[in-house]
Amino acid sequence: MSTPKRYTITTALPYTNGPIHIGHLAGVYVPADIYARYLRLTGNDVVLIGGSDEHGVPITIKAKNEGVTPQDIVDKYHAIIKKSFEDFGISFDNYSRTSAPIHHKTASEFFKTLNEKGEFIEETTEQLFDAEANQFLADRFVTGTCPKCGNEEAYGDQCEKCGTSLNATDLINPKSTLTGNTPTLKETKHWFLPLNKHEDFLKEWILEGHKKDWKPNVYGQVKSWIDDGLRPRAVTRDLDWGIPVPAEGGEGKVLYVWFDAPIGYISSTIEWAEREGKDWKPYWKDEDTKLIHFIGKDNIVFHCIIFPSMLKAEGSYILPENVPANEFLNLEGNKLSTSKNWAVWLPEYLEEFPDQQDVLRYVLTANAPETKDNDFTWKDFQARNNNELVAIFGNFINRVVVLTNKYYNGVVPEPNEFNDVDLETLAAVKAYPNVIASSIERYRFREAGQELMNLARLGNKYLADAEPWKVIKEDEARTKTIMYVALQIASALATLSEPFLPFTSAKLKGILNVTSNAVEMSWNDITEKEVLLPAGHQIGKAELLFSKIEDKTIQEQLDKLEASKKANEAANKAVEPQKDTITFEDFTKLDIRVGTILEAEKMPKTKKLLVLKVDTGIDTRTIVSGIAESFTPEEVVGKKVTVLVNLAPRKLRGVESQGMILMTETPEGKLVFVNPDDQEVSNGLQIS
Ligand code: MF3
Ligand code: ZN
Repeated sequence: MSTPKRYTITTALPYTNGPIHIGHLAGVYVPADIYARYLRLTGNDVVLIGGSDEHGVPITIKAKNEGVTPQDIVDKYHAIIKKSFEDFGISFDNYSRTSAPIHHKTASEFFKTLNEKGEFIEETTEQLFDAEANQFLADRFVTGTCPKCGNEEAYGDQCEKCGTSLNATDLINPKSTLTGNTPTLKETKHWFLPLNKHEDFLKEWILEGHKKDWKPNVYGQVKSWIDDGLRPRAVTRDLDWGIPVPAEGGEGKVLYVWFDAPIGYISSTIEWAEREGKDWKPYWKDEDTKLIHFIGKDNIVFHCIIFPSMLKAEGSYILPENVPANEFLNLEGNKLSTSKNWAVWLPEYLEEFPDQQDVLRYVLTANAPETKDNDFTWKDFQARNNNELVAIFGNFINRVVVLTNKYYNGVVPEPNEFNDVDLETLAAVKAYPNVIASSIERYRFREAGQELMNLARLGNKYLADAEPWKVIKEDEARTKTIMYVALQIASALATLSEPFLPFTSAKLKGILNVTSNAVEMSWNDITEKEVLLPAGHQIGKAELLFSKIEDKTIQEQLDKLEASKKANEAANKAVEPQKDTITFEDFTKLDIRVGTILEAEKMPKTKKLLVLKVDTGIDTRTIVSGIAESFTPEEVVGKKVTVLVNLAPRKLRGVESQGMILMTETPEGKLVFVNPDDQEVSNGLQIS
């Protein structure tokens, strides 16, 4: 095993404009957490850094839409995000936020240093301006066609389709997202980071230095940007939400969110070090420290080109050793979307699947979008839980613990002679720490997770083949050996599962009674120690590690998604076009009156029909109405309704209907009595 090292591991700071969903988890936080936990277990000095990204245009837009302040938005979501990460077991050493004073200070000083060193170009240029909103249009305040890939919805700072980082003035046919106006140009001063100045260094450092060890998707993107040629990028904005530009002429301007946010990694480390009474500097300035950025693929340019150029320009910082960016996770075949509510939200998951954090961690690891976009499906979630976690891992542990209690009152038996299978099995167990470690160290977390499950498979198969429950009847000595071997595997699983399934690992260590230092194994002990769980050691009682997930539970989740889909379709559905014009005369033929429903009952053997008795003011008459799928008879009795009274009577199932109740139908297919004040009824719905 290698000598211990110092690691600074960062995770992309999530924007505080919504809760965390499975896409964030699979792309960034689960792999980063596995990595950090593994490195801690192998004796390294690790700091896992996180925090909320609280500046930037999306937050101001959300605040505007909701009629609250940006601070309200960030306070709300910072609290939600932080709590859900804690409950999910992401082992941050510090989780900070970019509105924290320490961050404002750190980012301001960073800017000042670069400014004083002459690392910026200060320039007055023409920028996009929305005269009606009286606002410069950068970043998400403007969309237009990407000059590189033709995507018509590229933002002013980045095209999310091809990943290219853009200046707002690069957009073809720009449009203000505030008013829809075509922007005009207006002069304003900004500070630019001349990326072109760092091109040679970037070429040497990444294109030559990291060709082999960076993931092909990351390397490839970076190479294509550098090959295209880099240009100066504005690092300030004409906005009022953000960190004020600490320079002469910076009044009314703030730092660009992508300038301040990555510095948040440093601020969060400083905050942590101050709390822990440590020195933060080695974590960012010592050449021996390994700096690793976990991010999603849309963040590659910022972490591989812009932030390193900033760090290099500052001069006293180390550069990332690796940037293991993931591709995207889809959900049931569709792109995850906050605005379309197409997501599995972490806070909801934690509520609906209490104490099942590890199931989601396991499934997201097994399906991690490491080399290509990948799909999360609820069926797969259920299958991996039921067929792998329950049927293999859980089943093995349960058998071992139950039998040890049954045969030996929970005391690990003294083994007798080992046969070839026992010896091979014990040797195979000892190989696992290295196998899993090698996958983790190459950022192949899917592979690592599957190797862990292979260890459980090995245990399960060993027991199934050795059949101690049969052998006990004729050979007690042999049974002891079998159970001893199985217990060694259980002990290895307790330790090696920790990075992947931390809650399960803790529970299993409790069951095996190995939480005291004397018997707790480190990662390397599994390989190095002869005995993992000594004969004579007392273990505890069996407890289920995982439980089966029923079809009903999965169906509920699918129904939730179906409802989102319906709501989206409804929101997008165009209203019916207007019918042919009628004359006033035509209109006066209709006799529409106010009435009250006096009685209602279901028409026997039908799904849709209610038979109503309606007081029309003229008389009390029978009307058959097709509303039974939307209302129970009890709900409609006493309701005031509008009635078309001179509609020709007709027989429905033998009952004569003498008129029609006017209704409207929402896009979700729900019938509503005509009452335009009703919030369910939107403009353009037809009355019929
Ligand atoms: N908030 C950004 C996003 O969600 C990520 C910021 S990462 C940092 O895409 F480096 F800027 F912190
Ligand atoms: Zn593009």
